[in-house]
Amino acid sequence: MPVNRQLKLARRPEGRVSLEDFTVEEGAPPQAPDGAVVARTLFLSVDPTNRVWMKDVPQYMPPVAIGEVMRSGGLAEVVQSNLEGYAPGDLVFGMTGWQDYSVLKPGGALGLAKIPSGSGLAPEKFLGVCGPNGVTAWAGMIEVAQVGPGDTAIVTAAAGSVGSAAGQIAKIKGARVIGIAGGSEKARKLVDDYGFDAGVDYRAENFRVQLKAATPDGADVLFENVGGEIMEAAISRLNPRGRVALSGMISIYNGKGGTRYDWAPIMAKRLKVQGFNLIDCAELWPRAARELAGWVRDGKIKAEETIVDGLTNAPEALNMLFDGANVGKLLVRVA
Ligand SMILES: NC(=O)c1ccc[n+]([C@@H]2O[C@H](COP(=O)([O-])OP(=O)(O)OC[C@H]3O[C@@H](n4cnc5c(N)ncnc54)[C@H](OP(=O)(O)O)[C@@H]3O)[C@@H](O)[C@H]2O)c1
Repeated sequence: MPVNRQLKLARRPEGRVSLEDFTVEEGAPPQAPDGAVVARTLFLSVDPTNRVWMKDVPQYMPPVAIGEVMRSGGLAEVVQSNLEGYAPGDLVFGMTGWQDYSVLKPGGALGLAKIPSGSGLAPEKFLGVCGPNGVTAWAGMIEVAQVGPGDTAIVTAAAGSVGSAAGQIAKIKGARVIGIAGGSEKARKLVDDYGFDAGVDYRAENFRVQLKAATPDGADVLFENVGGEIMEAAISRLNPRGRVALSGMISIYNGKGGTRYDWAPIMAKRLKVQGFNLIDCAELWPRAARELAGWVRDGKIKAEETIVDGLTNAPEALNMLFDGANVGKLLVRVA
């Protein structure tokens, strides 16, 4: 008999996350109600936002309640269907949660969606570069920042899943691209593997000097994933009327509060700053995902995955995002 293991939030973590912050319960898999499927989780998408969902702070979705299965995106295989158009064996994206079996139904950007068959790509690419992370990069660079030829674009957390895609999309659109990442190895990787024009190591003592040297004519676009001092350094390099696509602020997710920003440079340079979120991207998702899959197939975008095995390792895997221990998309293999 199949068993459904579920990781339920037992308390709100302080700082780093551990398995002790969850109860692990075992039970029978659910049954599919009308209009839904039951799917067996294959891979969990490990995302910085998982950490925010554990906190009781104002955010774009309700926090995960104590006693609730930890919310997460995932790649899953339909095992039972009460939904027209879906059959056992179909591979799907949905909010599986940290559990073996979930009930999934369509609705909204993060609702149930089929993984395209015959794409020639591994299905897990649709959790990263051809899925939520790539679509975030596409939306931020193309729709929000409207990057184009002649632009210089700075990307922070550039060796990660969203950042590496964002930088490569900006290159495709004809921009000069500077990536900021932690460590000289990652900074080199941005240039050697992802084709950025320069990589800057924010951990280096001369970080600001490196950034200035990499942007002799300033920059026009900032795709921001980090916040804090790194964001401030990047904003200091923006030219008047620069555009900031505010994707995320990972530097504050593990802590209790936020940070204060000096708005004066934003005003003085007449910058356009826009926050955006994937939950508003349901309409553009299919078009963006198709285009991203084409770029990956044609070798115009390179994307890697870091895979951790085992459902109960999900809490420790989440910490890897905050340690910079991942390259590209971080996944937990469940089955
Ligand atoms: N707006 C949206 O809809 C949306 C959707 C998905 C993701 N996001 C955002 O996109 C960003 C990247 O997400 P992702 O899933 O692609 O993760 P990721 O970039 O693959 O992994 C996170 C990376 O952030 C860097 N990092 C962690 N803590 C840091 C710190 N204190 N200072 C500087 N860098 C730090 C680490 O790289 P280093 O080794 O370089 O430090 C780490 O590898 C996050 O801010 C996330 O919230 C937004």
